[in-house]
Amino acid sequence: MITNRTFTMIKPDAVANGHIGAIIDDITKAGFRIIALKYTRLTPEAAGKFYEIHKERPFYNDLVNFMSSGPIIAAILEKDNAIEEFRTLIGATNPAQAAEGTIRRKYAKSIDANAIHGSDSDANAEIEGNFFFTAEERF
Ligand code: RTP
Ligand code: MG
Repeated sequence: MITNRTFTMIKPDAVANGHIGAIIDDITKAGFRIIALKYTRLTPEAAGKFYEIHKERPFYNDLVNFMSSGPIIAAILEKDNAIEEFRTLIGATNPAQAAEGTIRRKYAKSIDANAIHGSDSDANAEIEGNFFFTAEERF
């Protein structure tokens, strides 16, 4: 099991609002190394599959619609203690509760359009990275 990697997406709101460059700058300045990165767009079917873990949650349909509403950046990142450190860097799910200086505090507008995703466990980081990248792309 890989323990020093996480997976992220810059969500459609942050892409549409022109924050790709600033967010990648924050990520690399925080010491994360980019292993794989792509600019792409999720179909509603792909977004539904990616967030299948939230299928029973009340916000599932809104989440799937939002995540397929425009292009995203998907990336695999590497750093010691990557999962925890990246969750700290992005801040709380609700940007109104996110700490000063975090990516969600700086670039997110709402709990739905919250700028960025970060994996919540080593196991999910691997599943999510594999969803977007082939074995050759994530060596
Ligand atoms: P993410 O997976 O995107 O990094 O976000 P997270 O771990 O902080 O939050 P999670 O519980 O995994 O929820 C996934 C995304 O669903 C939306 N959400 N809306 N309206 C709500 O109560 C609500 N709760 C979650 C958010 O966009 C969240 O990022
Ligand atoms: Mg999550």
